[in-house]
Amino acid sequence: MDKIHELIEKILKEKALIYCVLSNIRKKDTEKYHKVTIRPVILKEKMVYQFTYYYQKKVLHENLKEEEMVKKVMLLFEQFKQGQFFTDKADYQILISKKFKVKILKKPPTKKPTNLEHNRRKRYILSDDLSKPFLLRLGVVNEEGKVLAKKYDKFRQINRFLEMVEDIMPQLKKKDGRLNIIDFGCGKSYLTFALYHYLVELFKLDVKIIGLDLKEDVIKHCNEIAKDLGYADLKFMIGDIQHFTGVDKVDMVVTLHACDTATDAALTKAIEWDAKVILSVPCCQHELLGQIHNDIMKPILKHGILKERMSAIVTDSIRANILEIMGYQTQILEFIDMEHTPKNLLIRAVKANKASREVVEEYKRMKEFWGIDPYFERALGERLSKKLK
Ligand SMILES: C[S@@+](CC[C@H](N)C(=O)[O-])C[C@H]1O[C@@H](n2cnc3c(N)ncnc32)[C@H](O)[C@@H]1O
Repeated sequence: MDKIHELIEKILKEKALIYCVLSNIRKKDTEKYHKVTIRPVILKEKMVYQFTYYYQKKVLHENLKEEEMVKKVMLLFEQFKQGQFFTDKADYQILISKKFKVKILKKPPTKKPTNLEHNRRKRYILSDDLSKPFLLRLGVVNEEGKVLAKKYDKFRQINRFLEMVEDIMPQLKKKDGRLNIIDFGCGKSYLTFALYHYLVELFKLDVKIIGLDLKEDVIKHCNEIAKDLGYADLKFMIGDIQHFTGVDKVDMVVTLHACDTATDAALTKAIEWDAKVILSVPCCQHELLGQIHNDIMKPILKHGILKERMSAIVTDSIRANILEIMGYQTQILEFIDMEHTPKNLLIRAVKANKASREVVEEYKRMKEFWGIDPYFERALGERLSKKLK
């Protein structure tokens, strides 16, 4: 077993591990995991080793530091007879006999390293100077400019969102006139303030931003902060997205975790305004959960958790498809890793040309397949129905 210990120490020292699989368990037990995989990941700026334990009906994760990782692997090798270590220099196959005799086979590498180095060095758009007053006022950083642990996920989300905005800037910029932006379901408005800071303070653009939410007290507080910070073109309004009539022209609509059909209401407004860009991270898609049904899909839909996930996927596909029909070039992108939030998709839609007939037919087939009547379609009414004919 010393040979294994030595090999793992060497691999870790060289930071060479790409992926590892432990299999062929000695004592089969249906209650216990039967396979373990390990991969290096960057969490909160630090490299850790993520262990994934595969049980019959579930998987569990555990993140361990380097020192703990070696100990854990050695313990696991008391249960598993086989291990494969994929590194950037070689693949190692470890075979352990019934009597714990160890054989290590070395082969040329078959896996390419993942770009961890890039992740590790990744800098957030907002991290140049964390003493930005809006971050302090919103309670994201402390007086020393350090991000508070409980706000780290939100900090990561708004930075990622700003990266998305950075990407679509060429499509968004106007030759003249001001840009009108709305953040629907802005809540405590971390994103709304960050957008204002980024576009107005950093890029000196002529931008007006409105944040809309149902919550009176939150909106009042956000308006106070905007006033104190001298953010003259940032306004917060109370209201329901569906009935919002505060402006008649908007260039970009953003949403971050606007609940359920609030996302669809926001997309509907964006389409009505012919907004150039939509960036929307949906949240808790409940609407179709009670609607989707299809006999062929019964093996999936009979499991609550799978049905929930499937209905979320169908909801976002419906959104993307309708946006395409309405003339938007639409992509669904990973917003943030699953590690940090399961609400990790972003819909990016940029006004383009007319959609092809094929997209319309695909949409109709999908709707029929799942037997659904989505809110988004109803909200768009005539605008969409005439395109579906
Ligand atoms: C999960 S929070 C997200 C807040 C914020 N965007 C963020 O990411 O921190 C969802 C927000 O959407 C608001 N909301 C839900 N439905 C709404 C509607 N129909 N009109 C306006 N706001 C709505 C809620 O009041 C809540 O503040």
